[in-house]
Amino acid sequence: MNKTIIAATALLLSAGSYAQNTPAGSAERGQKIYMHQMCYNCHGTIGQNGGVTGPKIAPNPFPWVAFAQQVRKPRGEMPPFSEKTLPDQDLADIYAYVASIKSGPAAKDIPLLSGF
Ligand code: HEC
Repeated sequence: MNKTIIAATALLLSAGSYAQNTPAGSAERGQKIYMHQMCYNCHGTIGQNGGVTGPKIAPNPFPWVAFAQQVRKPRGEMPPFSEKTLPDQDLADIYAYVASIKSGPAAKDIPLLSGF
């Protein structure tokens, strides 16, 4: 098994503890921190992916434990954010923001796109 597969498996296994461990956070504050920390540079302003480096992270982000793990100890190219740069509460607020992002409407529900 290579390292990526092991990391991915660890992420999947940690997904089970989702609800219990998700800390409280402010989505409003989180959005500011998300912008300030430049997450948007790679992931886009609403986590849709920047079209450049980072994958899509919203809607439906990773469960908290996996999300936090990726930010603290990225499994690949992403730069790590230590607690010094990004305190736990800031990370919790970012998570609240990312988790609050809704999906856009389905193509069939967009009038401009019907009739083609
Ligand atoms: C320099 C570009 C860059 C920045 C800045 C960045 N990321 Fe990432 N992010 C990545 C890349 C590339 C990945 C894919 C996995 C990897 O390489 O570690 C990733 C993966 C992720 C993932 C896992 C999603 C998945 O499907 O793999 C999350 C969650 C995430 N980033 C959150 C954040 C947050 C929150 C911030 C800001 C605190 C941030 N990232 C800043 C590039 C970036």
